[in-house]
Amino acid sequence: MPLPTINPTTTKAWKKLEDHYNNIRNNHMKDLFAQDGERADKFTVKWDDFYVDFSKNRITEDTLKYLLELADEVKLKEAIISQFSGDIINQTEGRAVLHTALRAPKEANFKVDGVNVMPEIYAVKQKIEAFTNEVVNGDLKGFTGKVFTDVVNIGIGGSDLGPAMVVETLQYYKNHLTTHFVSNVDGDHVNEVIKKLNPETTLFVIVSKTFTTQETLSNANTLKAWFLKSANKEAIAKHFVAVSTNIKNVKAFGIDENNIFPMWDWVGGRFSLWSAVGLTISLAVGYKNFDSLLKGANKMDEHFKNEDFKTNIPVVLALISVWYNNFFKAETEAIIPYSQYLNQFATYLQQGIMESNGKSVDRNGNPVDYQTGTIIWGEPGTNSQHAFFQLIHQGTKLIPADFIGFTKSLHGNQDHQDKLMSNFLAQTEALLNGKTEAEVVAEGTDSKIVPFKIFQGNKPTNTIFINKLTPESLGKLIAMYEHKIFVQGIIWNIFSYDQFGVELGKQLASKILQEFNNSTVNNHDSSTQNLLNHYKNMS
Ligand code: F6P
Repeated sequence: MPLPTINPTTTKAWKKLEDHYNNIRNNHMKDLFAQDGERADKFTVKWDDFYVDFSKNRITEDTLKYLLELADEVKLKEAIISQFSGDIINQTEGRAVLHTALRAPKEANFKVDGVNVMPEIYAVKQKIEAFTNEVVNGDLKGFTGKVFTDVVNIGIGGSDLGPAMVVETLQYYKNHLTTHFVSNVDGDHVNEVIKKLNPETTLFVIVSKTFTTQETLSNANTLKAWFLKSANKEAIAKHFVAVSTNIKNVKAFGIDENNIFPMWDWVGGRFSLWSAVGLTISLAVGYKNFDSLLKGANKMDEHFKNEDFKTNIPVVLALISVWYNNFFKAETEAIIPYSQYLNQFATYLQQGIMESNGKSVDRNGNPVDYQTGTIIWGEPGTNSQHAFFQLIHQGTKLIPADFIGFTKSLHGNQDHQDKLMSNFLAQTEALLNGKTEAEVVAEGTDSKIVPFKIFQGNKPTNTIFINKLTPESLGKLIAMYEHKIFVQGIIWNIFSYDQFGVELGKQLASKILQEFNNSTVNNHDSSTQNLLNHYKNMS
């Protein structure tokens, strides 16, 4: 079944939300809390080891009611069923979207073109597990008989960001292998990594769904050439593996057929860490932990698929985000994890959210006349408090923020954990309440300084409190945002699973690359032409 094609602004719920927005936009959350002693309980979902409090938002029970009506009117339930049924919901690329199958149990039944894909998925999982164990246990050895000490993941976009973020986030669970990530076509990136490597003990994992990506192939070729300075061609089979759908190109690169980990075109790049694209994760933290990550994601899938929308975490978070994006006209959303381990989380979500929902044509092929994808940014607390929080607290922009925290710390240093969590709780409280003129005066502040010390408050936050950072809880957290992306794409009536917007720049770059060797080029706008000439003269 194709996805519904309903313009959200034509729904009854949208009109209700517009009127409602005009009625409540100046309400202060402080008053909403004062009026309703049960507000926090009403707007909190407790599920598994997640405690999601969305009460510190500029919403009332009516807001949620109208947003849920919007979800019904745009046929969200039907869209969820279509996605999990393997329908071709990536219609512009003619593909199903089944990253959820990658983390489903063996006995599940996900069909693509009428064929259950679970046996294929589990065959690849077995291959990942066996390979991981051989490398981690030291059974697999390099061309001089030494065990592997280093793994280099070569990929970009979804073939880099997901694995890199997860390996960083799960570093507490890491084994002895040192992992490196090479993504940028900037040669300084690969050369800095090379400085740390010994060819005898390094395993290279080339990750590219298409195996045509310029950055990845350039880096892979550079690393292969560097490797071949110490080894002969036969050694490539021992040191290079690839994850791809493009078996022909992988073989042409010189990789042994046994060293290819297949993936499928129904797995989008930015949703691929659950597939063999996650091989580096498995190598870094062991297959058992990789599998727990997948199991966590599967639990969130079940919650998303089955839970009533009112208490469905990804649905509620998506609806609140639409409320700010389309009615309050908030342009950005901040992701603030109170865990240093999650320091790459916002970067990872930037691709997930902005590549998916950065679209301006609806599912009917018409330009949209409302806002779509939000701009995502963020850094861990408490560092971010000393960087950009000033603007969130006292600036002119409305920036809804997700605060993500863990009740238990991994290393168990309670003193640090208490300090971290006191900041976590204090910030959302301060953003909610602000500080009035009377409060500032009562502190004995010099009257000339009083205006500068007032905080308006009324700044929205969601608090996502999780018991402990484990592979499983991380899997749930990532899947939660994946489903949020999907829900928003459905509401905005856009296709979330293509990324044509990255093509134009790529095409022009390959044209300009050829022109670097051509002295008579003069077919650009004058700015680009001057810059190109400047580069040719100076490089
Ligand atoms: O940025 C565009 C994109 O196609 C992403 O969607 C993808 O994750 C990335 O490039 C890398 O693609 P590939 O895995 O095919 O090398």
